[in-house]
Amino acid sequence: MTIAVCPGSFDPVTLGHLDVIRRAATLFDRVIVVVMINFSKQPAFTVEERVGFIKKITASLPNVEVDAFSGLLADYAAKEDATAIVKGLRVMSDFEYEFQMALTNSSLNPRTETIFLPASIDYMFLSSSMVREVASRGRDVSKFVPAEIAEDIRKKLWK
Ligand code: PNS
Repeated sequence: MTIAVCPGSFDPVTLGHLDVIRRAATLFDRVIVVVMINFSKQPAFTVEERVGFIKKITASLPNVEVDAFSGLLADYAAKEDATAIVKGLRVMSDFEYEFQMALTNSSLNPRTETIFLPASIDYMFLSSSMVREVASRGRDVSKFVPAEIAEDIRKKLWK
């Protein structure tokens, strides 16, 4: 069985993330979307909220599961016996950081490959931080995140 891990902060999950998750679900037998917990960062959404949003928007994808983890991604991938870590790659500015993480993960866990999926053209410039910025001004974010979670995101962030 091929197993993919799709990691991220998902603060919050966007249409770009969902696009990568959907595409991974066509390539692998089982896809685990994992919210990585970083204690040195103060996220806008709790782990439970982030996991809940992803569960809601992936409910129709039978081979997708959602989890949360606070250790190293390489260790999580080894624990789950993952074939691959799948990440979306947007503009070139993502590349250096993603490449560095892929090499670190591969030296910690050589059994799991990192695979980059190029972002779809519609989501090339979409980011969670942009969604937070727009929602915090009270604007609708349903062009950027799945419609079923857009209002929850706007309500939570609108000051
Ligand atoms: O959505 P993001 O913020 O681009 O995701 C980054 C993430 C969470 C995948 C990355 O920071 C991560 O894997 N963090 C867990 C700690 C870890 O394994 N770091 C890489 C080796 S030092």
